[in-house]
Amino acid sequence: MNVATIVIKSRHSVRKYKPEPISEDAIKDAILSGCSAPSSMNLQPWLIGVVKQKDKLKKIADYTEHGKFIADSAACFLIFGEKKAIFYIEDCCAVTENIIIALQAYGIGTCWVAGDKKAYAEDIRKFLSVPPEYTLVSIVPAGIPAEISIVKKKDIESLTFFESYRDKS
Ligand SMILES: Cc1cc2nc3c(=O)[nH]c(=O)nc-3n(C[C@H](O)[C@H](O)[C@H](O)COP(=O)(O)O)c2cc1C
Repeated sequence: MNVATIVIKSRHSVRKYKPEPISEDAIKDAILSGCSAPSSMNLQPWLIGVVKQKDKLKKIADYTEHGKFIADSAACFLIFGEKKAIFYIEDCCAVTENIIIALQAYGIGTCWVAGDKKAYAEDIRKFLSVPPEYTLVSIVPAGIPAEISIVKKKDIESLTFFESYRDKS
């Protein structure tokens, strides 16, 4: 395994954070990594918001259905996509994963919280005064892990095939 694989494999969703800040270097690297994502036609149709103020984190948490722990994060990344770009969801998902992995490399825990397809996406967009050309794709609260739960993953063989599905045993 190389260093990238080790970092990727070490990641688990973290929903409990210590009440400590995360470094500005980590935040800057996460943004840089997000903006290094591939995008269809290199349109880079995203906008990355970073929120650290406690009252705003609480409000964002309250908007979500399954993201109440956002309130306790040290910083929350919000990835918005420019709707006119045909592949904005895919592009923004690539940004999201890059941000998550970059933070993991600093030992910072995250949890992808749904944005796209959720009714609250529009509430959060308005709350952060983001222009209507953009829509919320994902939310990534981040913090020093206080608790990490490891979920069972499917057997890799059941999720892959080589050359043709017909040859799958
Ligand atoms: C598109 C997407 C939306 C998700 N939404 C939520 C969410 O709203 N709340 C939450 O606690 N976890 C959410 N998750 C995290 C998943 O529950 C988690 O990735 C999954 O259980 C696997 O666990 P792991 O991340 O530790 O591997 C989401 C993940 C993805 C990719």
